[in-house]
Amino acid sequence: MADVRIRMRANGPLVVEGPFQLVDSEGNTFDIPADKPAVALCRCGESSRRPFCDGAHKGCGFISDERAITPTEPQ
Ligand code: FES
Repeated sequence: MADVRIRMRANGPLVVEGPFQLVDSEGNTFDIPADKPAVALCRCGESSRRPFCDGAHKGCGFISDERAITPTEPQ
């Protein structure tokens, strides 16, 4: 399994942890400092620093807190 973890924040960004590249639609790579342990990606659409989160989700009424479905035990 990859060493990348993507964690959903309730009513906020996706937090990506681990070594990864973020590439735009033309194949250009965003500059992410190698020593940064995690990067928050905007999913509310209101950040002025997209694709990165700038905290704007806190004031725009963005609500999203999807949960992964836990498989049930076979009976
Ligand atoms: S999720 Fe934080 S600004 Fe959009």
